[in-house]
Amino acid sequence: MSNIVEQLDAKISAALSGWNFYTTVLALLVFAYIAYPIIFHDEPDTHPMLLARQASASPVRQPGESAVYRSLEVPHGYPLKTGLNVKEPDAPKWSGGRDGDLRDIWRQVARGAHSEQGGSNVPAGKILTVLGKEDVKDHDVGDVSREINIIGKHIRQHGVTRVAIYLPNSIEFLSTVFACAFYGLSPILIPYNQPSNVVLELLQKTSAECLVAAAGALPLADVGQRVSSLKEIVWVVEKSSRQMDWHQKPEGTGNRVGVSVWHDLVLDQKRTTSVELPTSEQGSKPANITTIWQKKQGAMGEVIEFTHQNMVAAIAAQISALPARQRMSPSDLFLPADAFTHTYVLTLTLAALFSHASVAITSVASPGVDLSLVTRNIAPTIIVASAETAASLHRATHPTATSGLKKFAYYTETKALAGGRMPTDTLLTRLNAPIRAAVGSTPGKLRLLFVSERVGAGSPPLTSEQLSDLRVFTGARVIYALTAAQVAGAVSQTSIFDYRREEGRSGTHSHFGVPLSSVEVKLVDTSTHRTTDKGNPEGEITVLGPAVAGGKAALGVTGTFRDDHTLAYV
Ligand SMILES: *[C@@H]1O[C@H](CO)[C@@H](O)[C@H](O)[C@H]1NC(C)=O
Repeated sequence: MSNIVEQLDAKISAALSGWNFYTTVLALLVFAYIAYPIIFHDEPDTHPMLLARQASASPVRQPGESAVYRSLEVPHGYPLKTGLNVKEPDAPKWSGGRDGDLRDIWRQVARGAHSEQGGSNVPAGKILTVLGKEDVKDHDVGDVSREINIIGKHIRQHGVTRVAIYLPNSIEFLSTVFACAFYGLSPILIPYNQPSNVVLELLQKTSAECLVAAAGALPLADVGQRVSSLKEIVWVVEKSSRQMDWHQKPEGTGNRVGVSVWHDLVLDQKRTTSVELPTSEQGSKPANITTIWQKKQGAMGEVIEFTHQNMVAAIAAQISALPARQRMSPSDLFLPADAFTHTYVLTLTLAALFSHASVAITSVASPGVDLSLVTRNIAPTIIVASAETAASLHRATHPTATSGLKKFAYYTETKALAGGRMPTDTLLTRLNAPIRAAVGSTPGKLRLLFVSERVGAGSPPLTSEQLSDLRVFTGARVIYALTAAQVAGAVSQTSIFDYRREEGRSGTHSHFGVPLSSVEVKLVDTSTHRTTDKGNPEGEITVLGPAVAGGKAALGVTGTFRDDHTLAYV
């Protein structure tokens, strides 16, 4: 088929050299006949009025501050979203649910896997690890539960609570986070692939007592000597290096630091450890989760401590931010293509697990990773990626949109988007699709792409035009979020149906949509920006609510709420 199209394209190019009045008329007729229905036929995906006023502003405002803006999901005067509304399986329907914590997320996954065997109707999501070019490993949920028990018990036996995780995205990363939740431990998520002196300093600064790390990622002797709080190391060893002896203790530390190896612990205790997870005793609270926010890769970071309450509020808000028909579901395959140490990525991944979607984990996930590489042997329906990755996908795809027919297809789809409709698969697009980005082993599966701007962390700006292009190139809806150190998940993100394309603002960030339902946002006067002036308010973006560490955070950047009540940088 594409061959025919290429030939046709060549013919058209040839014909264009002999362009005259009749060909113009003909072209116009063809255009009217083919393009008109595509552009004007269907209703927009959402009512234009809903895009014209996307958030609600509080009726009262404090001096020196803008009104407080909220998602339409949570009217002023009502509480913000605080949690997952977890109900026990046998609880009556009308009873109120708990906010829950991360344990409830894993329980939900385990319940799905369990009921599949038992034939009940809780759907089961898969957890996959993408290994190299060919291999995809499907993890048994029971085995993961068992590993959560083994690792949690092992760490607790050593009488430590502060557990640093220095791992790439992996099932061990998630298992350790859940083990911490079930065994009262406090995980510290250290961004992976940093210079070792930065990691050592972070371990020291966060008083890490246990370190779960990729074997060989850090020099053992330095870790032992420089991190004085450290008592236990657990190495996660890749299959290919398991013949080496990883049990060596660091020199010069006496017997202070013990060393274990993940797969040996699992092997030793597999038979004696149950898949049953500890129950939450009434009132017991899992310990805080510490994250690091880096201004740039390899820099020392800001240390932020989140409670489980912060995390579940953020997760619940992500789930409800999508309209019911677009939510993550068991038919989705979710791929985190950015690191779990970014809470936006972790929150979405946990939301996917809670929603019984399948999750594909790849260790190369990081800011800037090439999406076509990480999706060579899977076909995800939802991806969360860094702004770096989105920008390079745009760069890599855009210049090739040169042939006449491809340009035409690109043009019609862009027009459809401007008309408020996601272009659908039609006979025409099958004959002549615009140039598409090579994402996923089966084209056309991707339906949703989450991208995040990280405040003050040097992520490249994505313009409204680039986001629109990405919708055309990937055939997926794109959500652009504003994320910040002190806010679990995101501060605000664009509506899934907001395809509006604002042209001629190259180099500037597109707007960031509306606050998630677990936060509210206001703008506070600075020395240079006043909110009291007429027109749109401008001021320091200040976020409050259950998803914010400490309840309130000023982000140190100036923002504005536009006429449509979406948040943007000034
Ligand atoms: C958990 O973090 C919060 C701040 O986010 C802090 O107020 C609280 O004291 C911490 N809890 C513990 C047990 O350290």
